[in-house]
Amino acid sequence: MRRFVTAAIAALLFSSTAYADTIKVGVIGPFSGPFALQGKSFKAGIDAYMAVNGATIGADTVEIVYRDVPQADPAQSKALAQELVIKEGVQYLAGFYFTPDAMAVTPLLTQANVPMVVMNAATSAIVTKSPLVVRTSFTTWQTSTPIAKVAFDKGIKKVISVVSDYGPGIDAENAFKTAFVAAGGEVVEAIRLPLATNDFSPIMQRIKDSGAEGVFAFLPSGPPTLGFVKGFADNNLKAGGVQLFATGDLTQESDLPALGDAALGMLTTFHYAISHDSPENKLFTAAAEKAIGNPAELNFPAVGAYDGMHVIYKMIEATGGKQDAQKAVDAVKGLSWVSPRGPVTIDPESRHITQNIYLREVAKGDDGKYINKEIQTFEKQGDPGLAAVK
Ligand code: PHB
Repeated sequence: MRRFVTAAIAALLFSSTAYADTIKVGVIGPFSGPFALQGKSFKAGIDAYMAVNGATIGADTVEIVYRDVPQADPAQSKALAQELVIKEGVQYLAGFYFTPDAMAVTPLLTQANVPMVVMNAATSAIVTKSPLVVRTSFTTWQTSTPIAKVAFDKGIKKVISVVSDYGPGIDAENAFKTAFVAAGGEVVEAIRLPLATNDFSPIMQRIKDSGAEGVFAFLPSGPPTLGFVKGFADNNLKAGGVQLFATGDLTQESDLPALGDAALGMLTTFHYAISHDSPENKLFTAAAEKAIGNPAELNFPAVGAYDGMHVIYKMIEATGGKQDAQKAVDAVKGLSWVSPRGPVTIDPESRHITQNIYLREVAKGDDGKYINKEIQTFEKQGDPGLAAVK
């Protein structure tokens, strides 16, 4: 009798996946507080993907479970990831705006048998912390390397770099310096600002005093970037002949109206502009603008989330909805598709996204709205930061 019961339970367990299942995806991001707009773009990207592609894969239905980490807070991120895995039974973890929040969760993945799809956090090393991490956003090595060449080619020889003092900022500083020195330029001073900095006037004075002809800057998109670019304009650095070069984090589209003409002409390099001209991007922006409600709020985390969902759907397809993290990750190694940002591939070795990086200029679009206008393409960029991490 006992043998029969055991066999019956085993049969039930093994056959359960043949029936319709709900597959839960836990998404961690900033959905309240100063960075809430970034979380809103995550959600808009996810909603857009599910509106275009449906919420079912075969017999399985995808359900998203959101958890809010308002500011970089590794302890909270880890606790919420544990709760999502143990109590909610999520089969996938995704989102992660801030690097420390992603880093805190990588040690849990193998035991939990859960892949992590990073939709924003941009420090190169994240993918090396677990074989179960796949990233669909960018790294600051990827975005900071091309702007160094652009600055040098514009005749700038002495640069001061200003970055936020944590993972993606330190990567950006190293990436810029490596490429700028290789081109023949000099970084005369490298400033690292605490992540919580909100008064940028003292920094603007230091930039003036440095005698540099150009500034390279990276800060995480949100209130810090708006404060920095406004401070740069308000302190008359541009008028004083100092040129600002940055990653596209500093000119996210939702900030452009507030920056106004002060940002006009500013050059940045990035993986995605809302104005990117392609059929895939038209489809994406239409769906994402509908999902977010106010189109003026749509920013780049939405494309990382949209493509992250593409990767998760492929993983669910490949595993037939069964929980097998390694099989899921293996299935997307080398996966190529045309993203709203352009052609992309998940590099099979690093599990990070290979993509075009665009040089953009803040300009006024046909309708008088400020845009990041793409003016040059650096094709098929891998992550130069991975060599530095190894
Ligand atoms: C990060 O913490 O990795 C991060 C956050 C915001 C950005 C870029 C990188 O805009």
